[in-house]
Amino acid sequence: MSASEFDTRAFRQALGCFPTGVAVVTAHTPNGRPIGLTVNSFTSVSLDPPLVLWCLDKRSERYPTYTTSDAFVISILGTAHEEVSSQLARPGAHSLDGISLLPTELGPPALADALAVFECAAHGIHDAGDHAILIGHVLRFARRQAGAPLVFYQGRYGALA
Ligand SMILES: Cc1cc2nc3c(=O)[nH]c(=O)nc-3n(C[C@H](O)[C@H](O)[C@H](O)COP(=O)(O)O)c2cc1C
Repeated sequence: MSASEFDTRAFRQALGCFPTGVAVVTAHTPNGRPIGLTVNSFTSVSLDPPLVLWCLDKRSERYPTYTTSDAFVISILGTAHEEVSSQLARPGAHSLDGISLLPTELGPPALADALAVFECAAHGIHDAGDHAILIGHVLRFARRQAGAPLVFYQGRYGALA
């Protein structure tokens, strides 16, 4: 199949058959302002050493911040975070103003009431087509005991039945 025959829209729809959780990745801009981005590409990678990854669109306005940052914090969202998830997925809407946050030892804030939080040191960036794969070395993590995860499936938010 040549590149011109490849149906990108159908490809996206097929990828959407894989349900995922939703996370927000926070980091500090070079001038120290905290920002956040909604992602569903979060994946565990390694237990020893503890590594996780997420993928970042190279066209994102937030690309320079995340790819030059020494640290980022990943908050796993619950069903109560749907509005926050939509807010931080809007193009150009990077500010955490109005969002309930908790401080972390590493620096970038975590979202209050996240199901789990992973404080990561930047471990590596890998080029991957129109995205970059960002690997984080988990320095600290916290897990809440209760809470239903926010789910993303076929372009819509949902919850586990
Ligand atoms: C549920 C959901 C998951 C997303 N996952 C990713 C992702 O894994 N990586 C990514 O770069 N963008 C992802 N996006 C898009 C970004 O949140 C955001 O819309 C995009 O970066 C455009 O904003 P910007 O150019 O201002 O950064 C996702 C959006 C939604 C709604």
